[in-house]
Amino acid sequence: MIIDALEWRYATKIFDKTKKLKSNQLVELEKIVQLSASSFGLQPYKVLIISNQELKDKLKSASFGQLQISDASHLFLFCSMIDFNKNDVDAFVDLNVKTTGNTKDSFKMYHEMMDMKIGSMNTEENASWAARQSYIALGNLLTAAAEMKIDICPIEGFVPQSYSEILNLNEMGLKPIVIAAIGFRSDEDKYQHSPKVRKSTQDLFIHI
Ligand SMILES: Cc1cc2nc3c(=O)[nH]c(=O)nc-3n(C[C@H](O)[C@H](O)[C@H](O)COP(=O)(O)O)c2cc1C
Repeated sequence: MIIDALEWRYATKIFDKTKKLKSNQLVELEKIVQLSASSFGLQPYKVLIISNQELKDKLKSASFGQLQISDASHLFLFCSMIDFNKNDVDAFVDLNVKTTGNTKDSFKMYHEMMDMKIGSMNTEENASWAARQSYIALGNLLTAAAEMKIDICPIEGFVPQSYSEILNLNEMGLKPIVIAAIGFRSDEDKYQHSPKVRKSTQDLFIHI
């Protein structure tokens, strides 16, 4: 049951360093991100997958010393594409043509709508829009990983500028947004036994 998985999951604070993702699990997690919905399907982000220990240790220092960064098996670093533009939209239309076998002309209206959307945003709005798309993938990943009994700590607590420097993200046209530290919980992590602190449904939902 999905609710059981959502009760089971928690933002893992202590990972068991000895437990690593198997390659088939990694492939499945990649697929989950790949299949995530995004505005128009444009997926204006990339995900860096980091398992190198030296790199994870370096990134921990740029993450307020959070142990999850060094001790998780893998980090999925969601990055938005800086300056997602009309060329990216064109490439997406080409991908649609190739994947569906439909003519380019059949995508004309869709193409125009996307161009309008991208063209209507200033740099700041564009960055915020791209970042929001990556959070959809993060949410999917959190839920699906729980179904697979794989632990994640979502992490926003890091210094973006330092991440950009360590990973040369600017050169790649990327801006770091949010991290999923992925692995397996340690028995010693007391947070796995904490009750879920959530607003009541009355507080959260407004039926009109
Ligand atoms: C976008 C986002 C950023 C977060 N950043 C951190 C973080 O930097 N460090 C951390 O320990 N937990 C972080 N969390 C975990 C939240 O604190 C946690 O999800 C929340 O308290 C609810 O608890 P639960 O996920 O264990 O149910 C983050 C969660 C989200 C969704």
